[in-house]
Amino acid sequence: MDLAKVTVERLIEAAHQAQAQAYAPYSNFPVGAAVLGTDGRVFPGCNVENSSFGLTVCAERNAVAAALVAGTRPTAVAVVVNGKPVPPCGACRQVLAEFDPGMPVVLASTTVRHQQVTSLDALLPGAFRFEKP
Ligand code: THU
Repeated sequence: MDLAKVTVERLIEAAHQAQAQAYAPYSNFPVGAAVLGTDGRVFPGCNVENSSFGLTVCAERNAVAAALVAGTRPTAVAVVVNGKPVPPCGACRQVLAEFDPGMPVVLASTTVRHQQVTSLDALLPGAFRFEKP
């Protein structure tokens, strides 16, 4: 699916606002994400860290949960960080692939004027899919 420029901008803006709410006192690396629902609505998420580090939840997965609880499914995602844009971590790629393995992935930065649109199948070829034996 090709994203319209206006949709890319909506996703980046929502992810940017979400980044401002990130709870990242340990890494000092705030991340904002936004997923586009199949119904056209946009859902933000931010990373939420914990003093027990392994309990940290990434921005992307919080955005996915927000979309699901609102009754829709993710069909594109944007991620905003400080500095060079970064793709979602491996765990988040797999979670996103659950809903749309080819979805567009928008990478953007709050501090660097560089953005990129790639796709989940480029980032995670061969995603795991559970098939009943
Ligand atoms: N983080 C995300 O929110 N998304 C990713 O895809 C990669 C990493 C967060 C987790 C942690 O709070 C911080 O970035 C540093 O790893």
